[in-house]
Amino acid sequence: MVKICCIGAGYVGGPTMAVIALKCPEIEVAVVDISVSRINAWNSEQLPIYEPGLDDVVKQCRGKNLFFSTDVEKHVMEADIVFVSVNTPTKTQGLGAGKAADLTYWESAARMIADVSKSDKIVVEKSTVPVKTAEAIEKILTHNSKGINFQILSNPEFLAEGTAIQDLFNPDRVLIGGRETPEGARAMQTLKDVYAHWVPVDQIICSNLWSAELSKLAANAFLAQRISSVNAISALCEATGADVTEVSHSVGTDSRIGPKFLNASVGFGGSCFQKDILNLVYICECNGLPEVANYWKQVIKINDYQKNRFVNRVVASMFNTVSGKKIAILGFAFKKDTGDTRETPAIDVCKGLLGDKARLSIYDPQVNEEQIQRDLSMKKFDWDHPIHLQPMSPTVVWDAYEATKDAHGVCILTEWDEFKKLDYQKIYDNMRKPAFVFDGRNIVDAQKLRQIGFIVYSIGKPLDAWLKDMPAVA
Ligand code: NAD
Ligand code: UDX
Repeated sequence: MVKICCIGAGYVGGPTMAVIALKCPEIEVAVVDISVSRINAWNSEQLPIYEPGLDDVVKQCRGKNLFFSTDVEKHVMEADIVFVSVNTPTKTQGLGAGKAADLTYWESAARMIADVSKSDKIVVEKSTVPVKTAEAIEKILTHNSKGINFQILSNPEFLAEGTAIQDLFNPDRVLIGGRETPEGARAMQTLKDVYAHWVPVDQIICSNLWSAELSKLAANAFLAQRISSVNAISALCEATGADVTEVSHSVGTDSRIGPKFLNASVGFGGSCFQKDILNLVYICECNGLPEVANYWKQVIKINDYQKNRFVNRVVASMFNTVSGKKIAILGFAFKKDTGDTRETPAIDVCKGLLGDKARLSIYDPQVNEEQIQRDLSMKKFDWDHPIHLQPMSPTVVWDAYEATKDAHGVCILTEWDEFKKLDYQKIYDNMRKPAFVFDGRNIVDAQKLRQIGFIVYSIGKPLDAWLKDMPAVA
């Protein structure tokens, strides 16, 4: 029996290993983590992450060939294949702070693998890492190996949150990078055999290690770049009377461009895009390529601009002040079908509105109050209007109607399906007038809302006369 151990029971480690266990009943999979609370949650009825379809998969295999444990060393020692899926956040201090990936967790995992191993192992980079990380990991492992053979593979993960299980069941491709040696080829074949249980072999791409590592950063940069491109066009649409949905449709029907990932929004969020682009920028700078670095930096600048623009639109529309006004925030997660708030645009938008002393009432179906208050109290960004004054503390409620009651405006920041089905007449009746809806995801029927009486702002769409008279400057 092949034994797999995955270090890191997070958004990637948990779902990926659960799917491997489901698809490969003869493989024993152990997911280990230093966080006792996370492991306890994986072993409970209330999994630590919300992901459609995940409960089903875990229930089918947990206790059979899928185990969650804090006994990291035991499971690493016993495994033939060790996946490393620890977090690789942006460095906040020291060399490369604000851009480079922090590989502290990775390095400590690698050192632990070297320390406890008693048999040959394949070590798989599942985390997103800077190109050439495998070389460093190889050095750590071989210098401490006591004669044990380690083969390093890069197997970046392309799942998106909210659709992780679907993405893992039907990936566009699986990418495996390894050394171009007979041992490297054997290790790649071993991992390929695991995925071949359910992924067609022609969708399993093999490459050299550096190409695999760089492909992950490049893929995320390309995806984010599409969103910044359409968001940049959305600003021009508002200035000219064009409709960004019509423009995206026309542009996306060119088969060379394709229709996906062209939805204008309040900005992209999530734990990956910004972090991975910053990492790419840093690598370019370190390799003496400032022009390339500046090109990718612009993707993040446009994203910041878009969030800023949204806040300015809200404030400008409401007579240039939201001080003391109640504003409902519908949606706090960075996208629908997840409770994850990492780098969510809602943080920047809420901080911007709080900076103007708005009274926020926030509702998200999957994010709890503790998380929201924590996110909003962290000073992560240098916002244009830093919160010098003690900001009004936001309230967090468990119902969209409660959030919007007596509010002057509603900001839709996450595209949850339930926000499309709300009774907007009821919401209007219970709001202060004039009542505003700022749709940061273009999910409501703006015409219908206007008939009710709302003043509606939709990203990249022709502006109401009111909004034209109250121009927002980004
Ligand atoms: P996460 O923070 O949810 O999970 C990482 C886990 O690793 C944490 O539970 C942490 O306690 C654990 N950990 C850290 N150091 C450890 C150690 N030494 N031993 C044992 N456990 C340790 O992170 P995530 O979102 O799952 O991301 C993991 C990696 O995958 C990152 O590199 C990320 O860039 C990449 N990635 C993430 C996504 C995504 O959608 N979240 C998608 C593709 C790739
Ligand atoms: C992303 C990548 O898609 C995935 O391949 C990688 O493995 C991890 O990073 P994720 O961040 O989970 O996945 O979600 P994604 O669907 O990519 O959305 C990222 C952000 O972009 C969200 O805030 C989303 O709302 C936003 N977005 C997405 C848009 O604003 N417009 C779009 O057209 C698509």
